[in-house]
Amino acid sequence: MARTFALFHFACIVGLVFSNGEYRERETVSVTASNGMPWPMPQQYSSTSDTFTINRNAFKFRATGQSCDILSSAFFRYQTIIFGFREEVLKFHPKFKAGSLTELDVNVKNKCDQYPYLGMDESYNLTISSSGATLNSNSVWGALRGIETFSQLVLQRSKDMFTVNGTTIVDYPRFQHRGLLLDTSRHFLDVSIIKQNLLAMSQSKFNVFHWHIVDDQSFPYTSNNFPDMATMGAYDSKHIYTQDQIAEIIEFARILGIRVIPEFDSPGHSQSWGKSIKDLLTKCYSSGKPNGQYGPIDPSLETSYGFLSKFFAEIAKVFPDHYVHLGGDEVNFDCWKSNPNITAFMKQKDFGTDYAKLEEYYMQRLLEIVSGVKKGYMIWQEVVDNGAKISKEAIVEIYRNQGYMFDVYLTTQKGYRTVLQACWYLDLIKYGVQWQAFYACDPGNFNGTAEQKKLVIGGETCMWGEYVDNTNVLSRTWPRASVVAERLWSAQNVKDANAAAPRLEEHRCRMIKRGFPAEAVNGPGYCFQEYSIHEPV
Ligand SMILES: *[C@@H]1O[C@H](CO)[C@@H](O)[C@H](O)[C@H]1NC(C)=O
Ligand SMILES: *[C@@H]1O[C@H](CO)[C@@H](O)[C@H](O)[C@H]1NC(C)=O
Ligand SMILES: *[C@@H]1O[C@H](CO)[C@@H](O)[C@H](O)[C@H]1NC(C)=O
Ligand SMILES: *[C@@H]1O[C@H](CO)[C@@H](O)[C@H](O)[C@H]1NC(C)=O
Repeated sequence: MARTFALFHFACIVGLVFSNGEYRERETVSVTASNGMPWPMPQQYSSTSDTFTINRNAFKFRATGQSCDILSSAFFRYQTIIFGFREEVLKFHPKFKAGSLTELDVNVKNKCDQYPYLGMDESYNLTISSSGATLNSNSVWGALRGIETFSQLVLQRSKDMFTVNGTTIVDYPRFQHRGLLLDTSRHFLDVSIIKQNLLAMSQSKFNVFHWHIVDDQSFPYTSNNFPDMATMGAYDSKHIYTQDQIAEIIEFARILGIRVIPEFDSPGHSQSWGKSIKDLLTKCYSSGKPNGQYGPIDPSLETSYGFLSKFFAEIAKVFPDHYVHLGGDEVNFDCWKSNPNITAFMKQKDFGTDYAKLEEYYMQRLLEIVSGVKKGYMIWQEVVDNGAKISKEAIVEIYRNQGYMFDVYLTTQKGYRTVLQACWYLDLIKYGVQWQAFYACDPGNFNGTAEQKKLVIGGETCMWGEYVDNTNVLSRTWPRASVVAERLWSAQNVKDANAAAPRLEEHRCRMIKRGFPAEAVNGPGYCFQEYSIHEPV
């Protein structure tokens, strides 16, 4: 069938004609995967041609320093990831044989933290030589990153035999904040999909899950204080996250060293909130009377702030990370302009006709509420673009994808810590090799002072939810997100896309081997060990 179809559409097989009339040859170049190379590239990495064999029945991880549930679950997880074990208890310990490796000693210096946090120490050193394999880290987070690297160096050679080369690694991230945004409002994502995504994130050393949990379209967050927000604001009663499920996601992320930063975007993007909270949204007017439409949250009413205080007091308890994302983007002023009560409020506050001042007033109040419950906050760039003078505690996220390096310049010049997202929209897909453009974007590439550069704490790639749901979010996100992960982890001079391509190809194949439906990103090719772990070897 497929063949007949192909012949019939011969013109489609030999080339492509784009809507602008451009004709392009089909991709012919393929990229051959590297073999046993890590992604993202460590800060210092060297390998030798000494290879050590590992019998999977004999290998174990051993904690030689501090340990805790995070480390022991990593040992268990990686035994499975590397060697394909699930339940087996390792009992068999043959005597040391020259040229073989029987354990990785993991030496964590400091007691485990309970939760990952901004600025946690993720550094580690990994040495594999004839005297054994050792991983040193200050914190358990560094150990997680190092074990992941170790897992990438080990290659399967036959049913029980694996090898690893002599290796010396000194490693730490270039940026503290390395995030991925998923949007569960435009389309709901199942808990199991979010967990798989977290696992994929840990494979690329991401450390922030930016959970754009609600938006205009739906409100799947089940609030303790305001249960109607989900009952009336979610698509339906199945497309919600219960408190138990949210706790499960946070715990799953914690064990992987990933922070969960929820975003509750306001005063815009909040149509779904208004379904249940009376008078929260501004009534829009036409010809002197309400027209049945609603705008952003009404900043002129004290009841709005009363609601926000109660709501964010709950959020502060539910999400353990110090930071909450408060949005603040794309506030449409038209509805505010149409509403006579808002006009009166503007006059009373002496704002003239400057609606940015009204937005600033709202954001100030919101930030005070959130500071009051001892949380830090992230906001979209528009809040400061509009001239709002807000606390320097805020972390500003750059999302407008034109002139974004200049925006990074301006935001850091104003003294704000800055996170870049603008050049990493995974949801904007196009034909061909797209990842190289993601790879080329560097948050440090602007003409700021050293002080300004220090304020750039990292970046986030994003998969907005209009065209993805459970069926395709993983394949569309991976492995392109990994490209951003390397940009944010590795040294600034690791930027040659041609040199990176074989490693990315291998990384994608490793993802497939671990069960992720990571899409093809380099043109024609194949993964030689695609299914080996999953076959009954
Ligand atoms: C590992 O060693 C083999 C030779 O034993 C060599 O061919 C291969 O390139 C080495 N791999 C790495 C990643 O250094
Ligand atoms: C890793 O090695 C470097 C260079 O030898 C050293 O400065 C650093 O303290 C080590 N880091 C850890 C976590 O052991
Ligand atoms: C708007 O103003 C009118 C007239 O001052 C008042 O009657 C009405 O209650 C106000 N609406 C809201 C929502 O405050
Ligand atoms: C930095 O300045 C140089 C020289 O003025 C200019 O060529 C370059 O485009 C600037 N780069 C950015 C990112 O603004």
